[in-house]
Amino acid sequence: MSAPLVAVVHGPNLRLLGRREVEIYGTTTLSEIDAQIQALAGELDVEVEGFQSNHEGELLDHIEGLHGRADGILINPGALTHTSIALRDALAGVGLPVVEVHLSNTQSRERFRRHSYVAGVAVGVVAGFGARSYLLGLRAVVAHLRDRG
Ligand code: DQA
Repeated sequence: MSAPLVAVVHGPNLRLLGRREVEIYGTTTLSEIDAQIQALAGELDVEVEGFQSNHEGELLDHIEGLHGRADGILINPGALTHTSIALRDALAGVGLPVVEVHLSNTQSRERFRRHSYVAGVAVGVVAGFGARSYLLGLRAVVAHLRDRG
């Protein structure tokens, strides 16, 4: 049997990581995060495939295309977390287990960040651990997939 595939999806503005509001998001760049995810995927014996877009429609098309290909989704939807019913519907529609991650603790920030449209269709949410949120999130998706068998 081939290794499960976890699709890693990065939403808008995450390519700026490393120089964007470093006091909130830290200095780790997106390529460093992707490399850490790859390394952990190797340890956990899963495949990962990353995708980033600043465009909502591209994210929706990408998620739609995961049907029949991926086994789970690890997503940091960025600001679309708080605005996009279309993203929520795409994730619900593709029918794969989703883990939502955020570098920052969105619950301890501005009020408009406290609501997530994605959380309701996710298995769970990891937020507030900086770049490590992605690694904890990957462990969570993989554990979920293994529990389901
Ligand atoms: C973020 C939190 C969002 O509120 C924000 O719009 C982002 C990054 C995070 O990872 O902490 O772009 O998703």
